[in-house]
Amino acid sequence: MNIIVAVDSNWGIGYNGTQPVVLPEDRSFFRKITSGGTVIVGRRTLADFPGGRPLKNRRNIIMSIDPDFTIEGAEVAHSVEEAIALTSGDRSNRVFVIGGARVYEQLLPYCERAFVTRIRGEYDADTFFENLDLSPNWELQKKGAPRFHDGVEYSFDVYRNKHPLRFT
Ligand SMILES: NC(=O)c1ccc[n+]([C@@H]2O[C@H](COP(=O)([O-])OP(=O)(O)OC[C@H]3O[C@@H](n4cnc5c(N)ncnc54)[C@H](OP(=O)(O)O)[C@@H]3O)[C@@H](O)[C@H]2O)c1
Repeated sequence: MNIIVAVDSNWGIGYNGTQPVVLPEDRSFFRKITSGGTVIVGRRTLADFPGGRPLKNRRNIIMSIDPDFTIEGAEVAHSVEEAIALTSGDRSNRVFVIGGARVYEQLLPYCERAFVTRIRGEYDADTFFENLDLSPNWELQKKGAPRFHDGVEYSFDVYRNKHPLRFT
């Protein structure tokens, strides 16, 4: 299982329920890497998707503790255990945890790789991702080349979890 996230210089990821900065190239990268796979997403982040709808061309697993929550085109997991169990038939490198903060936090220890779009700059943020540069469990596997969009510098980096938890 992988995680995919876009962070600013402070590892900020969200503000007022949406992303503080959106880069078109990052959206394309996200679409490309997750297409045909499975995404695990929190109910609050789903609400920020266009029309509040699940993503096309992907198996969507929405996390919610609400036993009555249903949505067309997606499955619902009511716990971390259930989310992981639902993906047991999928190839693990085709499963992506796509946020938000609470879902990232709980599933990060189970992920083998993190695809991190590092955006240089400090944006207003009220939700943060764990700083993987400071985490003893994670190491930078690949530093992406610097890229630019409208003067904003960013890179596609990959981190590796040295000791991913196995769910048994
Ligand atoms: N920068 C990025 O790459 C990126 C990516 C995604 C999201 N974001 C940002 O992250 C922010 C949203 O994060 P968030 O933490 O507020 O919300 P979230 O993680 O998207 O969703 C939280 C919801 O998920 C459900 N949930 C969480 N843990 C669960 C568990 N163990 N079992 C069952 N359900 C569980 C609950 O839904 P119920 O309330 O229905 O029970 C909870 O309210 C937004 O600002 C968004 O833009 C950023």
